[in-house]
Amino acid sequence: MAYPFRHEKETRILSEYFGDPEARTLDGWKKRGGYQALRKAIEMGRDAVIEEVKASGLRGRGGAGFPTGVKWSFMPKEKTGPSYLLVNSDESEPGAFKDRELIRWTPHQLIEGALIGAYAIQADHVYIYVRGEFFEPAQVVARAIEEAYQNGLAGKNILGTGIDIDVTLHLGAGAYICGEETALMNSLEGRRGQPRVKPPFPAVSGAFGRPTTINNVETLCAVPHIINKGAAWYRGFGTEKSPGTKLFNVSGHVVRRGNYEFPLGFPMHELLYDVCGGIRDGRKLKAVIPGGSSVPILAAEECDINLDYESVIAAGSMLGTASVIVMDDRTCMVKQVRRMVEFYAHESCGQCTPCREGTAWVAKIMRRIEAGLGTEADLEKLVDLSTNMTGTTICVLSDSCAAPVMSSLKKFKDDYLGHIHHGACPVAAAAVA
Ligand SMILES: Cc1cc2nc3c(=O)[nH]c(=O)nc-3n(C[C@H](O)[C@H](O)[C@H](O)COP(=O)(O)O)c2cc1C
Ligand code: SF4
Repeated sequence: MAYPFRHEKETRILSEYFGDPEARTLDGWKKRGGYQALRKAIEMGRDAVIEEVKASGLRGRGGAGFPTGVKWSFMPKEKTGPSYLLVNSDESEPGAFKDRELIRWTPHQLIEGALIGAYAIQADHVYIYVRGEFFEPAQVVARAIEEAYQNGLAGKNILGTGIDIDVTLHLGAGAYICGEETALMNSLEGRRGQPRVKPPFPAVSGAFGRPTTINNVETLCAVPHIINKGAAWYRGFGTEKSPGTKLFNVSGHVVRRGNYEFPLGFPMHELLYDVCGGIRDGRKLKAVIPGGSSVPILAAEECDINLDYESVIAAGSMLGTASVIVMDDRTCMVKQVRRMVEFYAHESCGQCTPCREGTAWVAKIMRRIEAGLGTEADLEKLVDLSTNMTGTTICVLSDSCAAPVMSSLKKFKDDYLGHIHHGACPVAAAAVA
């Protein structure tokens, strides 16, 4: 089956078997080298696995880019009871669509990576938390877990080594906040999906009050490759501080949207104009959100950068999930930011006043401005609210709402002023003219 998103320049490691239905089955996965890394990891021993992952420089692909091996090393060495590895497959960030493809096409790649991770941190149980709307990918994962149990790869005495690791699929109910690690733990426990105050950190007291590590799907999918081929091989891709490959999920106004795997540090210009075929309908680029809706917007003139964690920060944004949202010159920033803000207002869990009240208030002002009923005082209020919503809450959903507001006000103020002074969208008017 032809997978719709391919480019000959890609370095396909995690996504090599996208579109290949046989790779979804255990037999097919084994034929492609599957589960050799799990056996090798157990032969290496727990500490050596953690050291190898540390040496690879693998950084979490769930958004924050925290070093995976270092995170694993936070787990207690002494076992005093059950401990857990949680797989975060909630993927509700607007713009993100990579994890669902990884689990849909290569469920055993994830299960193998999760088993290696669980073995390394001495977790007895892996919970794969999949967003509720991912019905078909979740079924694929459920089948793969069943195959793993039937073939001695999960459950008691895996691979005849005497090691027991259970694997359970858990479906969420489609709340964005349940992707935040501690909200996910609450949701898994059957509680309301609200983030917890840290400390305690999950490695001390996580799911069910026990030591827990949580990793993103893409992070864990990289692990079997690192174990099979070594940290030095992995470091052969990407940059010194951002090693390895990354799935870039590109959406918006490009000719060929899709998931493309490249080494970190790949030039944004090449991604947009070569791989994705340039801006749709021959239009001009207006802005890019490089890492999912939660990160600051870059104006077209800021987009000549490399896509690694450090370079994107230096440009004033963040790589996040590398979910690249492209906007052409017909895009009204007021409308786009209003839509994002409404999303955050809807998804706020309501625990923190700056977030609960701030997201709703910002959304109200944005609606007023878009309708042509705003004033310049509204812009000052937006800055004031966004400032007070940043760094003041339990989790960063509040900051995520403020980021596009602040960056769009700084870089696209004319869009706001057009609405305020002319009572209508200046961009729409220009597109009609
Ligand atoms: C509001 C919010 C939503 C999040 N959603 C996700 C998500 O859907 N998937 C994910 O992997 N991480 C998500 N994260 C990040 C997780 O909290 C956590 O950092 C991540 O799962 C850790 O995995 P990693 O170290 O492999 O990146 C979210 C964070 C916040 C604040
Ligand atoms: S910042 Fe918002 S989403 Fe996060 S805990 Fe507070 S109220 Fe809930």
